[in-house]
Amino acid sequence: MYFRRLGSALCPLKTTPVLRSALLSDLDTSFHRSVKTTNMSGSPSVLVTGGSGLLGRALMTTIESSGKWSSVTGTAFSRNGANLVKLDLTDLDGVKKFIEETKPTFVVHAAAQRFPDKVDKDLEAATKLNVEATQVLAKAINSYGGKMIYISTDYVFDGKAAPYKVSDQTNPVNIYGKLKLDGELATLGVDPENLVLRIPVLYGPVEYLEESAVTVLFKLLLSPTDQDVVSDYEIRRPSHVDDIAFVVQKLLEEKHKRGIEIQGIYQWCGLEALTKFGMVQIMARALKKDVKTIKGNAEKPPETGTQRPYDTTMDTSRLQELGIEHHTPFEVGVASVLEKWNQKSN
Ligand SMILES: NC(=O)c1ccc[n+]([C@@H]2O[C@H](COP(=O)([O-])OP(=O)(O)OC[C@H]3O[C@@H](n4cnc5c(N)ncnc54)[C@H](OP(=O)(O)O)[C@@H]3O)[C@@H](O)[C@H]2O)c1
Repeated sequence: MYFRRLGSALCPLKTTPVLRSALLSDLDTSFHRSVKTTNMSGSPSVLVTGGSGLLGRALMTTIESSGKWSSVTGTAFSRNGANLVKLDLTDLDGVKKFIEETKPTFVVHAAAQRFPDKVDKDLEAATKLNVEATQVLAKAINSYGGKMIYISTDYVFDGKAAPYKVSDQTNPVNIYGKLKLDGELATLGVDPENLVLRIPVLYGPVEYLEESAVTVLFKLLLSPTDQDVVSDYEIRRPSHVDDIAFVVQKLLEEKHKRGIEIQGIYQWCGLEALTKFGMVQIMARALKKDVKTIKGNAEKPPETGTQRPYDTTMDTSRLQELGIEHHTPFEVGVASVLEKWNQKSN
């Protein structure tokens, strides 16, 4: 367990043993380097990694339409389209070169392998993307004084003692959470003036229902059987991607305006505490679907397979103190997102 002053919070950090020594050796040198003041004047540019993802698409729209930045560039991997640059983040030399050439003022680093089961299946690839690429990005950005917002997760907590403050002890219960925590450590270790934004489970305009752990539940309502059981145990605070994009845009603006005052760990999550069963009931009400055949299971899941934390509710006061908050009521948000899928099925 390591303790490090990160922003205004003293944060206990747990990391995977393999990465620990490498990350710590970087921490020591980077603390000296971070003393320099970032030049926040001039016309700032923003780079969004993972611009093709569920969150990345909302980030691109919100940040671009704000009109506050001289340029907004998004990167993608397999889904690079007209306005997204293809960049394989696991090509570490390529990442370094790309950042050194483009020198964005701010990087919102959203790309990741974020499916816990896929992380378990290919740990090496997930480590390269979620941790090593994050560290290379952070170093390259730090070399010219740029700053990064690293998108992290509520899964850094074990879920046993919610609500969690930014300074509370992290203790991920699965490898995905551990890697994301290592990404936090890399981000703030290279430059403590960087930002980490921890967010909860997301929903939003999906390209396919399985793209979000929330919208996938709608499949139960589209083709119900009399054997459908959904968890009524773990508590989540789902956020619409537009809420998170709003928070990121405001954090970028504050960072640009106030420099080193804005650094370290921030957290955002939705205001409604819901189990998956609770989410299904709200979806059913909003889209006038029959939910009677679906049963909730309030029992703790068996301790086999990828573990999930129980209640990951996070304290959001650090953002609220900056006047930053945005919550789309779940029923409103989920109805607007699922409407087209409901129509398709009729
Ligand atoms: N979704 C959630 O419920 C949730 C909850 C908490 C935290 N988060 C965090 O939020 C962030 C965004 O999540 P998301 O749901 O938007 O993820 P996502 O929809 O799965 O998107 C992942 C993004 O990463 C990109 N990517 C994958 N492999 C890459 C590679 N080798 N090189 C470059 N880019 C690569 C993908 O590009 P292509 O699609 O073009 O291949 C895509 O843009 C992640 O950091 C995640 O950990 C998500």
